[in-house]
Amino acid sequence: MNQELTASGGRRLTYLRLSVTDRCNLRCRYCMPPEGVPKLDHGDVLTYEEILRLARVGASLGLKKLRLTGGEPLVRRGLAGFIRALNEEGLFQDLRLTTNGILLPEMAASLKAAGVVGLNISLDAVDPAIYAEMVGLPGPAGEKMAGRAWAGFRAALSLGFETKINCVPIRGVNDRQLTALARLALEYPVDVRFIEHMPVGRGRLWEESCFLSAGEILTRLERELGRLEPRPAADPSAPARLYAPANAPGAIGFISAVSAHFCSGCNRLRLTADGKLKPCLLTDREINLREPLRTGASDQELRELFRAAAGHKPVSHLEAKPGDSAPAERGMSRIGG
Ligand code: 5AD
Ligand code: SF4
Repeated sequence: MNQELTASGGRRLTYLRLSVTDRCNLRCRYCMPPEGVPKLDHGDVLTYEEILRLARVGASLGLKKLRLTGGEPLVRRGLAGFIRALNEEGLFQDLRLTTNGILLPEMAASLKAAGVVGLNISLDAVDPAIYAEMVGLPGPAGEKMAGRAWAGFRAALSLGFETKINCVPIRGVNDRQLTALARLALEYPVDVRFIEHMPVGRGRLWEESCFLSAGEILTRLERELGRLEPRPAADPSAPARLYAPANAPGAIGFISAVSAHFCSGCNRLRLTADGKLKPCLLTDREINLREPLRTGASDQELRELFRAAAGHKPVSHLEAKPGDSAPAERGMSRIGG
């Protein structure tokens, strides 16, 4: 029996991104409206026991790498204990987390102890006032959040996490911060990644004039930092194209889902907090696992559903089939980035 997940083009799926909550303590302008988005009912969110069951099924099909996302994963109670349970079962070789960093000052040590090896932290500006603007909390409240997020970043570095910074550049809001962010790669062993703003959920409301392409950012950075040499990625399925300034401990990366898509190497599946498997971030197709899970499906039946999701992975989000309608209706906070 074939115990692997394969998608069109011979892609072997080995990477699961798992959203543990749709809640978030920020309102990033590219992700949510200021008043937030309707929340999932508590009963619709998978329990940790249910997630563990699906994680076991996924691992039995060759999923090896796990990233926990949200909303903001650290706002879900009991997260470190859940991660410890995952690790004790030894289901995944590589366990990472994407976070906005706000709760890292108090939680980083327990995440490290639980077995998390890497943290991707969303940091859209160095300047506290611009950060506040980006996270949808202009004024002192947002500036305080900036202090917490940057303290979280320092905590991540001092505890030895493999740390990456995610920044979504928005013209007219944080575009004057990009060099300051990129310079962090000259000082620390971090990848600073600029992510092209994607037309997902709230993101669809953005005007094209606010969009900054990876190419334009690279040109701007090279003007200030000098030539940036492309650097081969350690993981060929990673979507970021990396550039390394000479003698820098870190790298500068670009994730350009919009201007240059990288679907042919995509090896991931996403599981939403309410138990839907998503074959592709940028299409609306979802496979409901919660329903069968709660009505007594066997592991074998759940495995078949994982295989079905793999089979629905489009060759490219630009060539999605009917039923894959794009762009995605769920906002990023309900998918998990
Ligand atoms: N386009 C691109 N990236 C986004 N993120 C959230 N919404 C969008 C969007 N519309 C990214 C943020 C964050 C991660 C969770 O998802 O950079 O780091
Ligand atoms: Fe929260 Fe992440 Fe969305 Fe920002 S991008 S509002 S941190 S879920």
